[in-house]
Amino acid sequence: MKKITIAIDGFSSCGKSTMAKDLAREIGYIYVDTGAMYRSVTLYALRHHLFNADGTVREQELRRQMEHIRISFCMNSETGRPDTYLNGENVESAIRTMEVSSHVSPVAALAFVREALVGQQQRMGAEKGIVMDGRDIGTVVFPHAELKVFVTASAEVRARRRYDELKAKGMEADFNEILRNVQERDYIDSHRATSPLRKADDAVELDNSHLTIAQQKQWLLAQYRRAAE
Ligand code: DC
Repeated sequence: MKKITIAIDGFSSCGKSTMAKDLAREIGYIYVDTGAMYRSVTLYALRHHLFNADGTVREQELRRQMEHIRISFCMNSETGRPDTYLNGENVESAIRTMEVSSHVSPVAALAFVREALVGQQQRMGAEKGIVMDGRDIGTVVFPHAELKVFVTASAEVRARRRYDELKAKGMEADFNEILRNVQERDYIDSHRATSPLRKADDAVELDNSHLTIAQQKQWLLAQYRRAAE
């Protein structure tokens, strides 16, 4: 099997990350959750008061502070999955709150933020042997990836998954608020000017609304074997 680049894109909360992480672990590849990187910049912006009262970003300030934002990943030996670090602090839980979810889209729409993060992502994948998930991996970050997957599921199914996830972690959750957030992010993510979410022409599509995690895993493994042969 040759070492390849695997790009997994799709809407929020469609289970991409679980699929991508499981595949990476199974085949011994590096896994990178690029959503976690946009979330980390958002957490930094929240902590440093870089949002205006109306939810828009104080762009000039954030642009000036970008060089102080260091994002890295480190394997968690308990979960067997990488945790996200912001300037050396483990922020894996802090970046998954509703507050971050509801502020991340305007941050991810800023061209200078995308430029900085895409550059870092391309450096992380320079050696191949990587599974990266996000919105623009097959279209912008790795347009020549050997395997591109575009994952979809209905907004209701995705909101239910995120709700269950938050509840399981003992966090507060309101299903209707989550559904609204999922729909709003779908709209902003696919209508923004810079790198909108769209399926790459050569991506294989997977609608996982009615598939179990085991079925998705089987499907993805088969795609990998075909692409890496
Ligand atoms: O996958 P997620 O829900 O953790 O992503 C968080 C946000 O980051 C989401 O609103 C879209 C944005 N994002 C992006 O614009 N580009 C990526 N490659 C990954 C995520």
